[in-house]
Amino acid sequence: MERDTKMQKVKVWDLPTRLFHWTLVVCMVFMFVSAKIGGSWLQWHLRCGLFLLALILFRIVWGFVGSDTARFTQFVKSPKHIIRYLKGEITENEQPGHNPLGALMVLALIFGILFQLITGLFSPDENSYIYGGYLSNKAGENASKIRSIHLLWANVLMILAGVHIAVVLLYKFVKKHNLITPMITGNKYLNDPVPQLKMVSIIKALIILIITAGIAYSITLIK
Ligand code: HEM
Repeated sequence: MERDTKMQKVKVWDLPTRLFHWTLVVCMVFMFVSAKIGGSWLQWHLRCGLFLLALILFRIVWGFVGSDTARFTQFVKSPKHIIRYLKGEITENEQPGHNPLGALMVLALIFGILFQLITGLFSPDENSYIYGGYLSNKAGENASKIRSIHLLWANVLMILAGVHIAVVLLYKFVKKHNLITPMITGNKYLNDPVPQLKMVSIIKALIILIITAGIAYSITLIK
């Protein structure tokens, strides 16, 4: 995007949302690699999965109580609103965070990953029988079926992540609209008059993360 003199730097993404995103990327890559290698790496696959559960639960709570652009109400919009966006009637000043169409992918990724984590918790290890999900002994006769869904859904997530990355790159190289740098620095350059966005304190994010980490960890204590 060309930057002219009437543009102002605006903090669009808070630190918790950016840290969430890039930690999520690293963890997702690790989850795919560790699952592929298998063996004792599955032990770390389970641990990382638990950490991801804490992270995703954090993001869902942050979607209700976090900074303006992190809130679901700010970016999850009606089909009518999405059509208006596609017609070019919604500017970035009006919706400075996720655009109404991209928001659908954000939801698919967040809740798709949550679904994967839940099926993982109940999946048995049918190779070495050592590294089953923390709740795999609760899955009963459905265990094998849940494991199949877990393996299948990993492919769905890979496709979703692939489409997500392709779209972001398309924006950068075809539309000449860089969404990546704001996800790193938190800042966008918007036309005057710029929107006033409320950013919530990092302390609040930390408290939520401690609680969601506690919830995730308590799963390992279930006998
Ligand atoms: C496993 C891979 C990835 C996953 C699962 C993933 C997931 C997500 C999620 C859940 C969001 C929403 C963030 C939030 O609101 O909390 C998001 C946004 C975003 N991601 Fe990724 N991401 C992945 C890889 C990448 C990569 C490699 C890039 C950069 C090339 C990237 C660039 C972005 C950008 C720029 C946004 C903000 C889009 C916007 O402005 O609306 N992502 N991603």
